[in-house]
Amino acid sequence: MHHHLDAPAVVRALAPDEPVILNRPHAAARAARFFVEKFPGKTLYAVKANPSPDLLKVLWASGVTHFDVASIAEVRLVRATLPEATLCFMHPVKTARAIREAYFEHGVKTFSLDTHEELAKIVEATDHASDLRLCVRLRVSSEYAELSLASKFGCDLTEAGALLQATRQVADWLGVCFHVGSQAMSPFAYVQALDRVRAAIADASVVIDMIDVGGGFPSVYPGMEPPPLEDYFEIIHRHFYALPIAYNAELWCEPGRALCAEYNSLIVKVEKRRGDELYINDGAYGALYDAAHVAWRFPVRCLNGDRAGEATAFSFYGPTCDDADFMEGPFTLPSDIAAGDYIEIGMLGAYGAAMRTAFNGFGQGDVIEVMDEPMASLFDGSRQREARDNVVSLR
Ligand SMILES: Cc1ncc(COP(=O)(O)O)c(C=O)c1O
Repeated sequence: MHHHLDAPAVVRALAPDEPVILNRPHAAARAARFFVEKFPGKTLYAVKANPSPDLLKVLWASGVTHFDVASIAEVRLVRATLPEATLCFMHPVKTARAIREAYFEHGVKTFSLDTHEELAKIVEATDHASDLRLCVRLRVSSEYAELSLASKFGCDLTEAGALLQATRQVADWLGVCFHVGSQAMSPFAYVQALDRVRAAIADASVVIDMIDVGGGFPSVYPGMEPPPLEDYFEIIHRHFYALPIAYNAELWCEPGRALCAEYNSLIVKVEKRRGDELYINDGAYGALYDAAHVAWRFPVRCLNGDRAGEATAFSFYGPTCDDADFMEGPFTLPSDIAAGDYIEIGMLGAYGAAMRTAFNGFGQGDVIEVMDEPMASLFDGSRQREARDNVVSLR
């Protein structure tokens, strides 16, 4: 892989016709160390957010030893990349063949489930194994998250007691997991979810060995400035200790976004300008999926130093022939930006670089390592915690 100082250096050296993904391993390493050192339990990485083998190795080298995998392809990828890693198959709906291969060929013991059918499938596919570590996924609110994960997975409180009891019968080790939705903008999301966990455990009256508070930890984007992550960790810790669980119960989290958002940015070229619309060479079918489909705003900067126009709001069209290949933004750039200019789009490490497709013949382009800071960071020491009272008021 080529190395350069930063995005302007890449443009000077290559004047690329295709979009270029920039990797910042130092930023991912810093995020991983932050979680490993400060989260009051074990940190798993949710591989779906960005399955780049280079990134997996950076996280491993920074102390992340457990990985949340959601498909047999992710199981194989992580096992091939990190032979010593502990893999946890946390998709609540799996095929029997995937469970069997994961258990017998890749040493996966931890599986999540949210129905009696999935429980029976896991037991059968592992030939009634006696060393299963099973996590019952509870449905919780996504009220505080920018992207909901409240509809698809998780059993309701009314079903949780019976499912926990049935799972306890066959599990060597029993956990409860949930997901508060992605980019949770308040720590209170976890308080609400842990209250639900408490109700489920009280109903089931079984011994619980682990609580997994899932992902949802935020990153920082234009218009989305979350509180410091330490506030999340503190509140989770406090509410975890108040649960009626085994004295040696473990606390887990499985962030995707927070660990990898700062890892990637993207250099795109402006192919055409039409008023305040810029036609760029990546889009809805590339790394800008979220910008198009859920109007996510990413930070941008013009890489042509001689553009001095006032800050102006632009929207983007991607390169395919599809009208839906449109990113409304607003993306703030100099008013005199023109065709032929380059733009860096930041914070694309989570659900960005991983989303690229080959639709319409696009999706190619270099991957280059750079050494500068990401366009925003939760981990560079610039974000101070606010007065304690703000946290205490959440309970
Ligand atoms: C089971 C599970 N865990 C963790 C994550 C990662 O979530 P986030 O990227 O919001 O931290 C996801 C994302 O969909 C998920 O489905």
